Amino acid sequence: MSNQKIIVTGGCGYIGSHTTVALQNAGYNVVIFDNLANSTPETLDRITEITGVRPMFEKIDCTDIDAVRDAFDRHGDATGVIHFAALKAVGESVSYPLMYYKNNLVSLINVLEMMTAFNIENIVFSSSATVYGAPDTLPATEDTPTRAATSPYGQTKIMAETIIRDTVAANPKMHAVLLRYFNPIGAHPSGKIGELPRGVPNNLMPYITQVACGQREKLNVFGDDYPTPDGFCVRDYIDVNDLADAHIAALRHMIDSGDDIDVFNIGTGRGLSVMEIIRTFERATGVKINYTITARRPGDVPAIWACADKAAKVLGWRAKTPLDDTMRAAWLWQQNISKN
Ligand code: NAD
Ligand code: UD1
Repeated sequence: MSNQKIIVTGGCGYIGSHTTVALQNAGYNVVIFDNLANSTPETLDRITEITGVRPMFEKIDCTDIDAVRDAFDRHGDATGVIHFAALKAVGESVSYPLMYYKNNLVSLINVLEMMTAFNIENIVFSSSATVYGAPDTLPATEDTPTRAATSPYGQTKIMAETIIRDTVAANPKMHAVLLRYFNPIGAHPSGKIGELPRGVPNNLMPYITQVACGQREKLNVFGDDYPTPDGFCVRDYIDVNDLADAHIAALRHMIDSGDDIDVFNIGTGRGLSVMEIIRTFERATGVKINYTITARRPGDVPAIWACADKAAKVLGWRAKTPLDDTMRAAWLWQQNISKN
């Protein structure tokens, strides 16, 4: 057990809330910095119900340097930062690129500046498999070359990785872990926290659960003519609770090893097609999904999945939640939010 204090920016969001639960269950003291741009304060109540502990909370916008400085001043005793705070809607980023560059990059720069000022030496950053684009060979390893992203959102991840690398290189005391998430799905098994999409979901899993509960008529399956075994797009779907655990493994490794910078793929190592996901959801929940095949979605890569060996070897972390359990938790969460 650890009683270290960890600053979790974006901790009221989807992945941040699950990571806060995992951190608190492991004995860490968590302080969340979040402006609630894409989350609600009720998440703090739900985290308290699950863990029995209420995380500390600072309602701040990480792009506001004065607010970030004040918050670091109150929590300068933290051991590390897990930086989730970002906007993440790919399509929106194409329409509002400056909003994305400003929010995602200024937030990161402010956090790094204040970490330096307050001698907080450890940061875990939420990167994405989007940095690989469409790799020439699969699975994607951490050495797979990164590619210019097709959206400003994706580009913020590439730029953020560079900003962190350069900052660590210039500060011998600083350590960073870049976690490249594949496709996070699911919810806490209690169904009390999960993903809260705004408007029409872009991502597959919340779309499926909204169809399942009758909120949407049918799922559009984007393309059935991909060069994959069944013709449908292939992704590596990682349970959000497993993903949360990866952050704790990353923090521990960073603090114990003293490595300057490390990068890890966080996925299962297994690629599944859209149709396999639909069928697994139906089998696990007993609910049929109405779907129709439509054209490919522009920007979709045909297939990508992770080589997750490095995280297993170095962090001792691997995905463990059976996919059926992930589906049932996503469905339980959807049923809970549909009630309200
Ligand atoms: P989310 O939108 O649910 O959570 C992000 C949180 O950050 C929200 O609570 C939001 O209010 C907060 N936030 C945003 N801008 C802020 C700011 N300027 N100041 C303070 N708080 C701010 O998203 P998520 O799915 O939990 O994603 C977390 C991180 O993981 C993001 O960096 C995202 O880009 C990255 N990521 C997500 C996925 C995914 O599929 N969900 C995949 C790869 C990477
Ligand atoms: C998308 C983003 C990616 C981002 C990630 C997490 C695009 C092109 N990529 O990844 O940059 O990091 O979300 O937010 O937007 N699908 C359907 N019907 C749907 C929704 C999705 O068939 O209604 C299919 C897609 O074609 C894809 C798979 O389901 O093959 C997964 O889609 P999604 O959940 O949006 O994730 P990614 O496209 O992998």
